[in-house]
Amino acid sequence: MSQPIASPALSPAPPRHVAIIMDGNGRWAKARGLPRNLGHRQGVDAVREVVRACGRLGIEYLTLYAFSSENWKRPQTEVAGLMDLLRIYIRRELDELARSGVRIHVIGDRTKLAPDIVELISDAEARTRENRKLTLVIALSYGSQDEIVTACRRIAEQVAAGTLRVEDITAETVADHLQTVGIPDPDLIIRTSGEQRLSNFLLWQSAYSELIFADKLWPDFSPDDLAAAIDEYHRRERRYGGSGE
Ligand code: IPE
Ligand code: IPE
Ligand code: MG
Repeated sequence: MSQPIASPALSPAPPRHVAIIMDGNGRWAKARGLPRNLGHRQGVDAVREVVRACGRLGIEYLTLYAFSSENWKRPQTEVAGLMDLLRIYIRRELDELARSGVRIHVIGDRTKLAPDIVELISDAEARTRENRKLTLVIALSYGSQDEIVTACRRIAEQVAAGTLRVEDITAETVADHLQTVGIPDPDLIIRTSGEQRLSNFLLWQSAYSELIFADKLWPDFSPDDLAAAIDEYHRRERRYGGSGE
């Protein structure tokens, strides 16, 4: 009997959804005697490179934690600097993102954002709506607990109105009321800067995500570091509660 023809070694499919907690900009600046906002500015360069790399790697969804609901506590000058960087990033990158097939989607509490930023992100979303190569989800003024509370309220309203029965509430019902509805859960969550916590990021959606903590500070994180994290992801065994056999 003839042997089956060996198929060439295929590289494993990339994770469908990578989410990144981009941490360490402040420490990057401090280590150089620079103001924190220069660390954030340097962090934008890392964002640009990592977004491009995700396109090359065939990743379908990239979620970037850009600003948490708790980051409003920071000094006003730092918050203003971060918001300015967001304006600059979207204005400068939108053409390239739109051309290269990136769909932009922003999650988080928009009521706290300046009106011009709300307009900028709504326009960016509208302009890139039909793109399918990579969905770039930007978590901005985002907090997972708030997101879950809002979902609970909306579900409770339907129960109160008599349009939903309590016994019909499932995990899917909850997921459908989160801001990430329609987006697959992250396969891989990377946090830079050595901190090992989620800081209110995608708490529901990360139930079975692989977590990778990288020591590098975000401005130093390169496409090679992303590739290394993906290699490590491929070495993990995802069991989802099964026995793995
Ligand atoms: C991450 O860097 C960027 C944001 C949270 C907006 P940090 O500003 O948290 O940097 P560190 O953690 O102080 O070094
Ligand atoms: C998490 O980083 C938020 C973002 C990266 C946007 P933080 O620096 O705010 O988190 P903590 O305070 O160290 O937990
Ligand atoms: Mg931090």
